[in-house]
Amino acid sequence: MRLLVCGGAGFIGSTFARQRLREHGDEVTVLDKLTYAGREENLADIREQPGFQFLRGAIEDPEAVAVAVAASGAQAIVNFAAETHVDRSIAQPDAFVATHALGTYVLLEAAREHGLRYVQVSTDEVYGSIEEGTFTELSPLAPSSPYSATKAGADLLVQSYHHTYGLDAAICRGSNNYGPYQYPEKLIPLMILNAIHGDPLPVYGDGMQVRNWIHSTDFAAAVGFVLEHGAAGEVYNAGGPDEEANIEVVRRIIELTGASDSQIEHVTDRPGHDRRYSLSSEKVAQLGWAARVRFGEGLEQTVAWYRENPSWWEPIRSGDYRAYYERQYGRALGS
Ligand code: NAD
Ligand code: TYD
Repeated sequence: MRLLVCGGAGFIGSTFARQRLREHGDEVTVLDKLTYAGREENLADIREQPGFQFLRGAIEDPEAVAVAVAASGAQAIVNFAAETHVDRSIAQPDAFVATHALGTYVLLEAAREHGLRYVQVSTDEVYGSIEEGTFTELSPLAPSSPYSATKAGADLLVQSYHHTYGLDAAICRGSNNYGPYQYPEKLIPLMILNAIHGDPLPVYGDGMQVRNWIHSTDFAAAVGFVLEHGAAGEVYNAGGPDEEANIEVVRRIIELTGASDSQIEHVTDRPGHDRRYSLSSEKVAQLGWAARVRFGEGLEQTVAWYRENPSWWEPIRSGDYRAYYERQYGRALGS
């Protein structure tokens, strides 16, 4: 297949691009704005591979999207492009609205004009928080943050394009991802790098919030199953095999890095913090997908990857991320 992968220089998009190119023999064109989270380094190992090309551009820019559709000869658009950090959406929601609402609209119009298949990559956060049990695709949307609300808005727009114009579109909603190449603002890489550097480990509130962890290679594969086998107009949830309270994740990272419990610091809770996420993956399993990586093993491999790849994170940790960290946590990172 010839694919246009939007947001393919980010954490999960680059994993998906690698998987499709290497394991499925697809041709992949990545269109990415290269925000703070998008990095060409994430694609370094596939850059020179035949069938791959990278284009810099924003999904909300119709011109850039038209060029990318033409240059890729795409049969399908897979949209990972997003602003993805809840804390940033609370501090500064504007880019979330522009990318998720306008950007998704521009891509949908391009897909409609050229008769392309369209897959929207979305999140369990559109369902809001669940104390007990697990969300299915029929659960109501009840997003809590500007991040999840704008992602939910994008999902509704995608469904409207199927309903109204018959667009061949499907949605794949994932639970919390972890793995190599994740920008260190997110819980797991933040804690790994702080643990290694002897910095405090900032746990929001009581740390008893629960997340449903999925390895990024498993989620990328689920998006691939939806792309190949998903029915038009349908939503597919892909949740990881394990749930864990944040404080337990931090304790495991301390064990794996040899850091100290005394580095844990309970800090002011996130406003509107969702208590628990949990996704049922039965529907996507019927397409043939299954999660392969259990959390214990995946976390160990992820810690090893960050340890072995300082050349990936050093430029981030010594760059703009320092200023972000200081604004968000009210203290400087160690060196
Ligand atoms: P990320 O922040 O690592 O990467 C996002 C990418 O999108 C970056 O390369 C960025 O440059 C690009 N981008 C942002 N705005 C853009 C724009 N306007 N035009 C073009 N490119 C733009 O994010 P991620 O964690 O890889 O998430 C990818 C997708 O998966 C998102 O849609 C996210 O909502 C979804 N998702 C993420 C998780 C998770 O735990 N990380 C879980 C479920 C779903
Ligand atoms: P995060 O990685 O931001 O993902 P999401 O908000 O999409 O679930 O956060 C995962 C959990 O970890 C969430 O409950 C918030 C918590 N958290 C902390 O306790 N401390 C931190 O420094 C960060 C970034 C997150």
